[in-house]
Amino acid sequence: MKALILSGGKGTRLYPITYTSAKQLVPVANRAVLFRVVDAIVESGITDIGIVVGDTAPEIEAVVGDGSEWGAKITYIQQEAPLGLAHAVLISEDYLGDDSFVMFLGDNVLEGGIASLVEQFVQGDWNSQIVLTEVSNPQHFGVAELQNGRVVKLVEKPDIPPSNLALVGIYMFDSHIFEAVKNIKPSWRGELEITDAIQYLVDHGYKVYPYIHEGWWIDTGKPGDLLDCNRLLLETMEANTLGSIDPESCVSGRVVIEKGAEVINSTIRGPAIIGENSRIVNAYIGPFTAIYHDVLIERSEIEHCIIMENCKITDIEARIEDSVIGRHVEITRSPLRPKAYRMTIGDYSQIGML
Ligand code: DAU
Repeated sequence: MKALILSGGKGTRLYPITYTSAKQLVPVANRAVLFRVVDAIVESGITDIGIVVGDTAPEIEAVVGDGSEWGAKITYIQQEAPLGLAHAVLISEDYLGDDSFVMFLGDNVLEGGIASLVEQFVQGDWNSQIVLTEVSNPQHFGVAELQNGRVVKLVEKPDIPPSNLALVGIYMFDSHIFEAVKNIKPSWRGELEITDAIQYLVDHGYKVYPYIHEGWWIDTGKPGDLLDCNRLLLETMEANTLGSIDPESCVSGRVVIEKGAEVINSTIRGPAIIGENSRIVNAYIGPFTAIYHDVLIERSEIEHCIIMENCKITDIEARIEDSVIGRHVEITRSPLRPKAYRMTIGDYSQIGML
């Protein structure tokens, strides 16, 4: 059994963060989404992993490496353009060969991992098994219709959904999927859709079964989804202090202080995580906040945020909330006169002013 992670694509819904960085590398609760995907695959017992990469290949390869960190072997498969999930399978045929595999979208996070799914598929005699979960907004996802416990119909982001069962971005396939991806045509959006490939399997008598996922699942496509995912993961963490907290500070609830981090004369209310070598000075960090490595927060208040590496936030009077802040960002009070907002902001940024 092998695994195929899809980590190409453009990430337009996460602009401007994804102008400079792969969406799969955004940290949630201080661990990149893609790392969490590899964690789940390795936990299920699979160590032979292919990662489909696009324009952000160099960045992904630099941080994920050859997989030895997980005791796994990682092979990179270059996709020349994001031509669809089924296209990603098509170009991976040489790597996958005759093996069955789990395909995992590199921007999805799932409560509880995939071990029981992989075990069920190995024990069954099915050609494909797709993970489904009930959602309130099925029109934003691939949607499946079931009959007598089998999958009979799949549609991609339908205006009128046939059910409320969304396709979670995790699929099990045997090698018949190659026959399917070679026989479908691009959709109206110009992509080879995996939903069409699975429909091909159904229409040609192959056995496609559902796996209903009961816990939470997040497709981290948009900033709000990232914050939700961050919150859910922080809620599951155990408090741990590897850095230092001075006697003037008050830290309560589930708070992780990573190695080399310093908390000085500050209040932190968990769940929250303060990354390696970050400094929290005369500041307030509220619940559901993840502060990554090498960040300085001084004389400012932050709550329900993801702050990425090397940011500096100093002397901000109003609390910063519900925000995703990219790498190397500086937000500070300016002493310059006349009093004015002065900014250097990337395209598609969103700022809420007081
Ligand atoms: O998240 C679940 C949904 O994922 C399913 O319900 C849909 O049926 C499925 O089509 C997919 O929809 P999205 O619109 O969310 O897919 P997205 O374009 O965001 O791509 C998902 C991942 O696959 C992402 O990590 C980028 C990667 N990708 C995408 C394309 C189109 C590739 O590696 N290559 C590609 O060609």
